[in-house]
Amino acid sequence: MSHPDRFLLAGVMGWPVMHSRSPKIHNFWFAKHGLAGTYAPLAIRAEGLRAALRALPALGFAGCNLTIPHKETALDIVDRIDPLARRIGAINCVVVAPDGSLDGFNHDGFGYIESIVEADAKWRPDAGPIVVIGAGGGARAVLVSLADRGAREIRLLNRSPERAQALAQEFGAPIRALAWNDRHGALDGAAMLVNTTSQGMAGQPALDLALDKLPISALVSDIVYIPRETPLLTAARRRGNRTVNGLGMLLNQARPAFHAWFGVMPEVTAELRTMIEAAT
Ligand SMILES: NC(=O)c1ccc[n+]([C@@H]2O[C@H](COP(=O)([O-])OP(=O)(O)OC[C@H]3O[C@@H](n4cnc5c(N)ncnc54)[C@H](OP(=O)(O)O)[C@@H]3O)[C@@H](O)[C@H]2O)c1
Repeated sequence: MSHPDRFLLAGVMGWPVMHSRSPKIHNFWFAKHGLAGTYAPLAIRAEGLRAALRALPALGFAGCNLTIPHKETALDIVDRIDPLARRIGAINCVVVAPDGSLDGFNHDGFGYIESIVEADAKWRPDAGPIVVIGAGGGARAVLVSLADRGAREIRLLNRSPERAQALAQEFGAPIRALAWNDRHGALDGAAMLVNTTSQGMAGQPALDLALDKLPISALVSDIVYIPRETPLLTAARRRGNRTVNGLGMLLNQARPAFHAWFGVMPEVTAELRTMIEAAT
């Protein structure tokens, strides 16, 4: 935790970075908790990441978040990597230790599970098969967190099948890779469906997935948060499925970071959610 007499500093390093919602989230919490501090967007190119991270202690930063394209490359820069971040294969939060060394964490999985529990307090990861579409960075955090929470069967499908197979091999049970062409049928009997692809994101076409086989009781979640309701979520809601958008994941991953830097575990309040929704 930073010295109480100091102006508290953190930020997000990315390229591009100005689209990031993180400054709004953390600056809301500084104000909420009466803390003097600021959280800045830091436009850092790939080749500048090492120097920028190593400058954090001298600048008095408590740490920073990382976004595209830095989440994986930071693994080779920080001094220690949290085991969960290592398994996910990416760092989204760096914490400056008292001696100036750097710890790397990943809070995306935490944010994802919190967003689901927030939407459905009775949610159980072992309620039935979970279908995860996509095998990119977001998928890794979702898969590890679902498996750690006790999911018994995860059917993983990705447009490029070799990536789904590689993840199933790396993480092992309960993850099983299925063929992309079987994605519509893979929804049969599922208790939950998760989209982790970029399909449905603003500027991208909708995910090509027919929901006919998906039980109406299934929870449908999309980690895309712009727009708040993707075509997948609209289709799911219209046929009677409960839906969870990606905003809760984004908001909740920020909580443990703020806690690690400043010693306060902030909450995702309706006020914060409304403010961020207005900005998305
Ligand atoms: N809510 C949050 O906090 C949060 C956190 C992380 C990510 N996200 C969102 O999640 C989305 C994915 O991010 P990411 O970092 O995981 O991206 P990524 O690593 O680039 O992975 C992209 C995924 O989308 C798939 N894909 C791309 N085009 C496709 C198409 N035409 N048809 C089917 N699949 C396609 C890719 O499949 P291939 O392997 O075949 O290319 C891959 O599985 C983004 O919208 C991002 O904003 C949200």
